[in-house]
Amino acid sequence: MSEGSESAALAELAKRRGFFFGSSESYGGVGGFYTYGPQGAALKSNVEEAWRDRFAVQEGNLEIEAPTIMPEPVFEASGHLDGFDDMLVECAECGESHRADHLIEDNSNLEDAETLSPEAAAEKIAELGLHCPNCDAELAGQEVEDFNLMFATNIGPGSKTPGYLRPETAQGIFVEFPRIKAYARNSLPFGVTQVGRAYRNEISPRKNIVRTREFTQAELEQFIDPERDEPDLSSVEDVEVLLYPITEQEKDDGQYLTTTIGEAVEEGIIANGWIGYYLGIAQEWYEHVGVDMDRFRFRQHLPGERAHYAADCWDAESEVDGDWIEIAGFAYRGDYDLTKHGEHADDDFTIFQQYDEPKTVERAVVDPDMATLGPEFGAKAAGVADALEALAAENPEAFGSDEVTVEVDGEEIAVDTEIANFSVETQTEAGEHVTPHVVEPSFGIDRTVYTLLAHAYENDEVDGEARTFLSLSPAVAPTNVGVFPLVSNVDELVELADDVAAELRAAGFAVVYDDSGSIGRRYRRQDEVGTPFCITIDRDGIEGEGADTVTIRERDTGRQVRLPVSSLVETFVGLRAGTTAFDDVVEAYEAVEA
Ligand code: GAP
Repeated sequence: MSEGSESAALAELAKRRGFFFGSSESYGGVGGFYTYGPQGAALKSNVEEAWRDRFAVQEGNLEIEAPTIMPEPVFEASGHLDGFDDMLVECAECGESHRADHLIEDNSNLEDAETLSPEAAAEKIAELGLHCPNCDAELAGQEVEDFNLMFATNIGPGSKTPGYLRPETAQGIFVEFPRIKAYARNSLPFGVTQVGRAYRNEISPRKNIVRTREFTQAELEQFIDPERDEPDLSSVEDVEVLLYPITEQEKDDGQYLTTTIGEAVEEGIIANGWIGYYLGIAQEWYEHVGVDMDRFRFRQHLPGERAHYAADCWDAESEVDGDWIEIAGFAYRGDYDLTKHGEHADDDFTIFQQYDEPKTVERAVVDPDMATLGPEFGAKAAGVADALEALAAENPEAFGSDEVTVEVDGEEIAVDTEIANFSVETQTEAGEHVTPHVVEPSFGIDRTVYTLLAHAYENDEVDGEARTFLSLSPAVAPTNVGVFPLVSNVDELVELADDVAAELRAAGFAVVYDDSGSIGRRYRRQDEVGTPFCITIDRDGIEGEGADTVTIRERDTGRQVRLPVSSLVETFVGLRAGTTAFDDVVEAYEAVEA
C-alpha cells in the first residue's frame, strides 16, 4: 500500500464496521475524542486483558484503580504544572493552533524538534518558511510558546480546590505509595500496575486514535532498591530485539542493532537491567497480540527528548504508513517521583530496608539545652534545636568551633556550641530508610489497537473476488468464532448449531451466530472484522458417520478441517492462547477441501 493509504483505508473500515469513529459527531464532533464501536470496544478490552494477564498477573504485580481527577498539589509535586508543556504556534490569519515541533519535523529532516527551545523553534519556522497547514498563511514571526497540556477543573463548587484530569495514570500509583507499600509487606522490589484513562489537551490531535485528548494507558511502576535489586534476566536473555540506541541515531549512517536482551544489557547498550527485562517481555507480548515484528523497534530517547522525570528512556515504536509511532515508553524515573511527593506531602514515601546484619555506626548527635535556648531565642527555640540536629547529621565538623551558625526562617543565628551538647555516639542500626527508584513501562492501549489494526489490514482474492480481511491474532480478535448453520430449514442442523454456539459462549468465547446470506458472504463479513475462525454446520454433521462433527475454517488461508463437536472447546482454548497452531488441528483431524 502507498504511504498514507493504509491509515485512510483503516479509518474507513474502522467507521463502517464499528471499530472507532470521531465522537459526538451529531453535534459537529470535537477534535481528539473517539468512540470505540462494538468491534473496537471488544478488541481494546481484549488487549487490556492480555496486558493485565502478562504484566500484572504473570509478574505477580499489584493492580490498583485510582481516580482520574487529582488535586493541584499532586501536580505541583510531580512537576507537571511547571514542565508538562508542548510548543504552541498560532496562525495570525486563521487563529488555528499548531504544535511547532511537529510542523518543523513534518517539513524538514529534523527528527527531534521537541528538543528545541521555543525561541529556536520560532527561528526554525522562519528559516524553513513554514506556512499554516489550515489557511496557508506564513508563520514566520509568530511567537512559539510553551502550552501546558493538563485539563484543569474545580473540585466541588467554587474555585477553592483546583484539580486536574491526570495526564498519566502513574501519579495515582505514586501518591498512594505510603499505603500500597504495606500491601507489599514493606519489601522491595515490587510492582504496581494500573490500566485507565489519561487526559492531555493536545495542541493538534492527529492520526485518529494515535494522538487523542482522552486515551487509555496501561502502566507498571516497578519499585526497586537500586543498590540491591537486580532483575532475573534468565527468562528474557535470549529474546531478539531491534534496537536504535542514541549512539546510532547520532551518526549520519546510524544502523539498527539486532541483538538479544542478554547481550544488550551485558554490553551496556541498555544501561539498566530492569529496562532490559521489560523490553524483553514487551517484545514477546507485542508479538503475541499480533504486532508485525518486521515493523517494530525499540528506540532510545535522545537526551533533550526525555520527560522531566526520566534519566533514561526507550520507546517501543511501530511503523504505519512509513511513520514510526511511539506505542510504549520504558523510563528509568529514579527516585524523582517519590522524593518529590515526600517533600510536598505529609507522609512517608520511603521503605525501611532491613540490613542482612545489624550495623554499628558512629552518629553525630546533639541534645540542645532547651532551658538556655528557650529564654535566648523565644519562639524560634524549637526551630534552632531542629536546625542544630540537621547540622550535626550533615556537617559534624561545624561543631569543632566555639560557635555554630544555623538558619531558621531565613535568619542566620549563632549558637554557643556548648548549648548544643554535641557528641558522637556509637549506635547499632537494623536498617535504613530508602527512597525506592522507579522503572516504568508505560503502554498506550489506543496506539496498540491502532497498530494491530494497521498491521492486520490485508487484501487478497478468494474465488476470483477481492477480499479485505483483518489478520488479527486469535488472542485479541473481537469475536473468537463465527457459527454458521449451512441451511436454516433443517431443525436438527439448526439445533446442533445452537448447541455449538451455546457451548462455546459458556466456555467464555465471543461467538457470532450468522444464518443469513450465502456462506461466502458470511465468511467475508467475519473476515473484515478479523474473526480468526468460523464453524460451519452442514448435513454431514447430523447424519451417518459424520454425526456430531463440524468444520472449522481458518480466516487467513481458508483451510478447513472437520472435527468432532466434543473437541471444539479444547481446540479453541489452544488456538486462542497460541499454544495450538491451525496446522496442529489439521494434522490431528480430517482436512476438508474448501
Ligand atoms: N507515565 C509515563 C507516560 O505517560 P508517555 O510517553 O507520555 O509516558 C505513555 O505516555 C504512552 O501513552 C505513550 O507511549 C503512548 O502510547 C500513549 N500516549 C501518550 N499520549 C497520547 C495521546 N495523546 N493519545 C494516545 N496515546 C497517547
